[in-house]
Amino acid sequence: AASTQDELKAQVGRAALAYVVPGQIVGVGTGSTVNKFIEALASMRDQIPGAVSSSLASTERLQALGIPVLDANEVESLAVYIDGADEIDGKGHMVKGGGAALTREKIVAALARQFVCIADASKQVEVLGRFPLPVEVIPMAAQRIARSFAALGGEATLRLKDGQPLVTDNGQHILDVRGLRITDPLGFESEVNQWPGVVTVGVFAHQRANVCLLASPAGVQTLLF
Ligand code: A5P
Repeated sequence: AASTQDELKAQVGRAALAYVVPGQIVGVGTGSTVNKFIEALASMRDQIPGAVSSSLASTERLQALGIPVLDANEVESLAVYIDGADEIDGKGHMVKGGGAALTREKIVAALARQFVCIADASKQVEVLGRFPLPVEVIPMAAQRIARSFAALGGEATLRLKDGQPLVTDNGQHILDVRGLRITDPLGFESEVNQWPGVVTVGVFAHQRANVCLLASPAGVQTLLF
């Protein structure tokens, strides 16, 4: 099954090339599905001026393939941002951040006129919240924010790496919140964004997907939102 999943990711990674606009800088997300897209993008390297990346990990992969990476501040807007998701609902709302890159992902997504989500069918949900919700937080606020999630029925745990709190590309921590049922993604995102010490909540509703390329054994399906 692992190799099938891998092949599905490679399929949507290749399918996403159709959304890359020749002559234009492309926004690139993070994760194992995007890694397949990055591999495929090497074939277009002479057609694009470069990429804006959402993580140090993706930057390294892009540069290793000879694709220049530009700073987000050098770019006024992007035609398209291509990224994976941990969950996507029927309206293009997503949960992201399983790879801890959610803040930079939201920043690059906000620069783009179109968000193309690449995923396999296992990521599709009716209601967001099955996947533990990642939230990047300022370390000194973590426990207060965890109590605020408890009041909403969620159980927040600090993400660890090698027994220590995981430190993001931005020098902050990640809470993973289980047990939420996010029926109003736009309202939920707006509310949690107001809590002091929240850097980014992993609900992408204001920056939802406009297109989802969804891979299943039957082929790649294109969903428009
Ligand atoms: C990274 O922070 C996440 O938002 C990824 O987009 C998400 O975890 C999808 O990753 P996979 O493609 O590895 O499932």
